[in-house]
Amino acid sequence: MNPAPAAAPSCLVTGKPLEKIFSFGRMPIANGFLAPEQFADEYFFELAIGFNPESRMLQLTERVDERKMFHENYAFFSSTSAYMQRHFAEFAAKVSEAYLGESADPFVVEIGSNDGIMLQNFAARGVRHLGIEPSANVAAKAREKGIRTVSEFFDEKLAERIVAEHGQADAFLGANVMCHIPYIHSVFEGVKKLLKPKGVFAFEDPYLGDIVQKTSYDQIYDEHVFYFSAASIGFVAAAHGLELVAVEPQSVHGGSMRYVLSHRGARPVDASVRRQEDIERFLGLDRPETYVKFGRAVERSRDALMALLDDCRKKGRRVAGYGATSKSTTVTNFCGITPQHVEFISDTTPIKQGKFSPGAHIPVRPYEDFVKNRPDYALLFAWNHAAEIMAKEREFVAAGGRFILYVPQVGIEP
Ligand code: SAH
Ligand code: TYD
Repeated sequence: MNPAPAAAPSCLVTGKPLEKIFSFGRMPIANGFLAPEQFADEYFFELAIGFNPESRMLQLTERVDERKMFHENYAFFSSTSAYMQRHFAEFAAKVSEAYLGESADPFVVEIGSNDGIMLQNFAARGVRHLGIEPSANVAAKAREKGIRTVSEFFDEKLAERIVAEHGQADAFLGANVMCHIPYIHSVFEGVKKLLKPKGVFAFEDPYLGDIVQKTSYDQIYDEHVFYFSAASIGFVAAAHGLELVAVEPQSVHGGSMRYVLSHRGARPVDASVRRQEDIERFLGLDRPETYVKFGRAVERSRDALMALLDDCRKKGRRVAGYGATSKSTTVTNFCGITPQHVEFISDTTPIKQGKFSPGAHIPVRPYEDFVKNRPDYALLFAWNHAAEIMAKEREFVAAGGRFILYVPQVGIEP
């Protein structure tokens, strides 16, 4: 087992000391699906959150080295959800219409471009583009689709090289990646250098307001270093001569926020920014007590889920997990879910199949196994894809199958 780092935590935005508010205990790498011969050497760290009131940033107090998470065997392939493919087609269309029209030869850069789920839409329109994707296996998938991709971690230095080679960008995009990167100042400084004077920086991530309101604590895991809000993004942007000019709530990933930024003064600030900041104060997102209360709600959610799973076990009901999500690693390990509670987890991603879930070591099996050997209950770890999955599983439900949900409340559906 690896030793825990001893350094006292500090806020990644302000550099000031950061107090731990809630700890989930020791956790493995959320996407670290593994084989039995790797169990003995599995890596663990303490998953805990802290809040800095000055920057309004909720963040992890301890972090995992990025090279342990993002590499040539990265298990998350963006294109596994048809709904997400449509979502990114719409995102790309919106950016094209709103921001690329003025440029004769537009250039779009995406951070964390994964298998090309977003950039494929620009490539199809013949728009000059560049993906930045350090995980080599998913980057290779994008290249197979004809998407130009650099397999490196984005930071200020890489931004300088991109500008030297390709010139500045009209749009710098990102989804579910900005919140992954602890060196946030280097990234924002890189964006500042990369953007044309009228360029836009548009990105989305799971939204702190949704996490608190829905007790969706499973968004908290190693890759998610930050839990953003309009207030915290505005704070970081201001330190780099950038400005938050619009926000737009999104339903994906259980509730996300899209942030649009530009150079300070380059574009008018939309009323949505002030409105969202007001909502955030109303929700108490600026106060540490909110996260103390959130911690208590998380414990109640855990207790209710385990009572339900223990009851299923006593009654001899078979439960299988649905979707070997990163989020499920926090749920299984924090709640104490074992292979005695959940027989296997069904997942459509080939690289996860035949392996075991991180920490809890529940077998991950192909979706075909779920269809062949339907359980009584499907514990919906991919609850953010509920609409897509429920539509696909009408037969399971018609045959008496039920879903166990735990966000926003623990319960059985339908
Ligand atoms: N944008 C995709 C993928 C999100 S997963 C989607 O929304 O579905 C996060 C991705 O960011 C991973 O593929 C990971 O390899 C990549 N990533 C992590 N750190 C990065 C960094 N510093 N620069 C660029 N990409 C990074
Ligand atoms: P997702 O919730 O997008 O990710 P995260 O890892 O960020 O928590 O992951 C969805 C997982 O569920 C992914 O491994 C693919 C799987 N999945 C299925 O098995 N069947 C489905 O119908 C869908 C939509 C996803």
